[in-house]
Amino acid sequence: MKISFAEPKLPKSGTLVVGVLEGKKLTASAAALDKESNGALTSAIAASRFTGKKEETLAVPAPRGLFFERLILLGLGKPGVLSAIQMQRLGGTLVPALNAVGATSAAVAVDKVPGTRLDPGDTAANLAYGAALRSYRFDKYRTKEKPEQKPTLAELTVLTASAAAARRAYAPLESISSGVFFTRDLVSEPPNIIYPETLAREAKSLEKLGVKVEILDEKEMKKLGMGALVGVGQGSAHPPRLVVMDYRGHPRGKEKAPVAFVGKGVTFDTGGISLKPAQGMEEMKWDMAGAGVVVGLMKALAGRKAKVNAVGIVGLVENMPGGNAQRPSDIVHSLSGQTVEVLNTDAEGRLVLADALWYCQDRFKPQFMVNLATLTGAIVVALGHEYAGMFSNNDQLAARLTGAGKAVEEPLWRMPLGEAYDRQIDSDAADMKNIGNGRDAGSITAAQFLQRFVNNVPWAHLDIAGTAWSKKDAPLVPKGATAFGVRLLDQLVESHYEGR
Ligand code: BES
Ligand code: MN
Ligand code: ZN
Repeated sequence: MKISFAEPKLPKSGTLVVGVLEGKKLTASAAALDKESNGALTSAIAASRFTGKKEETLAVPAPRGLFFERLILLGLGKPGVLSAIQMQRLGGTLVPALNAVGATSAAVAVDKVPGTRLDPGDTAANLAYGAALRSYRFDKYRTKEKPEQKPTLAELTVLTASAAAARRAYAPLESISSGVFFTRDLVSEPPNIIYPETLAREAKSLEKLGVKVEILDEKEMKKLGMGALVGVGQGSAHPPRLVVMDYRGHPRGKEKAPVAFVGKGVTFDTGGISLKPAQGMEEMKWDMAGAGVVVGLMKALAGRKAKVNAVGIVGLVENMPGGNAQRPSDIVHSLSGQTVEVLNTDAEGRLVLADALWYCQDRFKPQFMVNLATLTGAIVVALGHEYAGMFSNNDQLAARLTGAGKAVEEPLWRMPLGEAYDRQIDSDAADMKNIGNGRDAGSITAAQFLQRFVNNVPWAHLDIAGTAWSKKDAPLVPKGATAFGVRLLDQLVESHYEGR
């Protein structure tokens, strides 16, 4: 979808969108049109249930004598509460409303809304950003779709008296949305297309944006001693990869300690020899969502030239059964030197992250590490699909993450860590085992496992098993791969680490 900004002017064709506040209060643009059309808007509202509540829409044929095709009234809700995220949600709401009436091009009049604190350029830019985020669609394999099954909207013009300021404000948001889209593409691709080598190749494309990208192959990882990660991949015909993405944008130079993001990239999780049931196994194509988010986040940060040094590391493996697959009771040597008894080959994500996290802190001495992983079914039992679970050894980092999550509506709920949980992963045969005792507190014992590989660096683990994929549309996120974490971590960096 093409997005542009222009000074206010009635369009000559297409669809015009104007705002209405709660209680049927017309914004200035709406009131002017109403007057010009002898009350066409007021009567359309009177003949409907539309009242201007936030995110309500009403389509109306264009009043006679005007050259565009139709009007859409957009409910803005109560005056004075329009924040950046709410403007985004309004933009996101418009996309299905415009597609529903078959609009191909639309202009949105963004008026000054009484009481908002956002400046007018930001208001318009955020509406456009929300529309862009919602317009995502993964349809490259649908070759037989009829025109009426496809979305119609191709062009959106945001009309604002501050068009130049809006364009400036939109530039970084556009970079974030292209990071989000990259993540959604990687996560949506089927596992015969995206496997460790091809996902690594996709990450390599970030070099265009000035990111240094290194790819370690299986031989190199074995030589380094990454027995935990390599063991997970050994049953697959697709060998594992570790990708290190290094972006240096800090104004004080390359020496400033980076922030670091680490992702679980299991490109397909069959469970291995501890095989998963057939029912629902197809969902495990998105078991690389943590890695997908880290790659998309690096694209967003580099794309908008964030003033930060940031490292992204993704551990890529395919977890398959087979003659060479690891067995329940195998003992592997991790990069940290600690040994792990693999009692369940389906608890593989933590094994991949163990080596990736240790490598990250050892090599980069980061200010903090945040890892993302579709790690446990248990976090879905606990939190459903609304919040991601957060585990952290550092209250300041946890509070900052919670705040960033609230701001972009990718919410996090902090879960506990503790000694008593940690005891559950002690093993009689090795330094630890890769599962707890039974299913109790399954997300927490998984987090305890990771914590044994962070070496006291400020760290947070985001368990995104419930939020990486969505079965229903939301204002900024069409159903499918959500890219949950890209906007959140971009916001974290922007609010606390740029230039500091
Ligand atoms: N990738 C899964 C977790 C998962 C489950 C993600 C459902 C998304 C939806 C992970 O590798 C896994 O299999 N975890 C096991 C751990 C268990 C064997 C200790 C689980 O959650 O059942
Ligand atoms: Mn698994
Ligand atoms: Zn998994």
